[in-house]
Amino acid sequence: MLTSFRELLDERRAAGAAAGAFTCYDVTTALGVVQAAEARTAPVMFLVAEASLRRPSGRLLLPALLAVADAARVPVCVQLDHVTDDALIDEALAGGIGAVMADGSKLPAVDNVSFVASVRRRSGVAGVEAELGHIEGGEDVAAATEAGALTDPRAAGAFVAATGCDCLAVSIGNVHGRYAAPPQLDWERLAAIRDQVKIPLSLHGASGLPDTDVRHAIALGVCKVNVNTELRERYLVELEAGLPAARDGLKLLDLEAGVVDAVAAVVAAKLDVLE
Ligand code: 13P
Repeated sequence: MLTSFRELLDERRAAGAAAGAFTCYDVTTALGVVQAAEARTAPVMFLVAEASLRRPSGRLLLPALLAVADAARVPVCVQLDHVTDDALIDEALAGGIGAVMADGSKLPAVDNVSFVASVRRRSGVAGVEAELGHIEGGEDVAAATEAGALTDPRAAGAFVAATGCDCLAVSIGNVHGRYAAPPQLDWERLAAIRDQVKIPLSLHGASGLPDTDVRHAIALGVCKVNVNTELRERYLVELEAGLPAARDGLKLLDLEAGVVDAVAAVVAAKLDVLE
């Protein structure tokens, strides 16, 4: 069932847990996410990458993901992830998206504030997530990446107040894609941010993070954990493994079923850590 961003995060926070947010480039991935979420009775989010929304098929992807979310037996919110383009944001809002990640993290600080505040004003019931500091790494690639500008706890409270965002993505040593070196998350910084900020915090770049780190982050106020790279990796490995048998009998549906199960296995393992 479709659920609002804020409701979903509030419920997770009250439960001392986090929502798993998984990037879905297609319906097959979303079906795998739902399969795992239903098996665990856990709420989840589908993340839509800006790049996939920009493709010709992107206009069909959003309604398709909303339909999968609505049909699920667990609460699901669909979020447009890391977007800077106002026109794309407005299009997604008009299309019924549940939340937007208004990523002004590469803008000068004052522009990040005005960008997010403007998205917040236009978003109505849809949730708005913002980023302070900058989480390095591309969302659709997997290059080894080092941490970017870390979130300044002293700026976090004023940023949230000025933007009205519903969720804050923290940069505490986490990166998108592969970690260039073993991740070393800055726990003192996360605790200091949590002290300044009353809204839920999100942890991006969870692929490759040890489970103990993810659990520690939740204990320090993280209510949403984003995963992409590990899903893409498993999807492609499964596709390759299933291809010879599928090709022999032209069994496209078998190939898809294998990918759904493979995605579900990754998601289930993550959801177990988030509870
Ligand atoms: P990973 O690709 O590192 O899992 O990060 C996903 C993410 O944070 C999407 O916003």
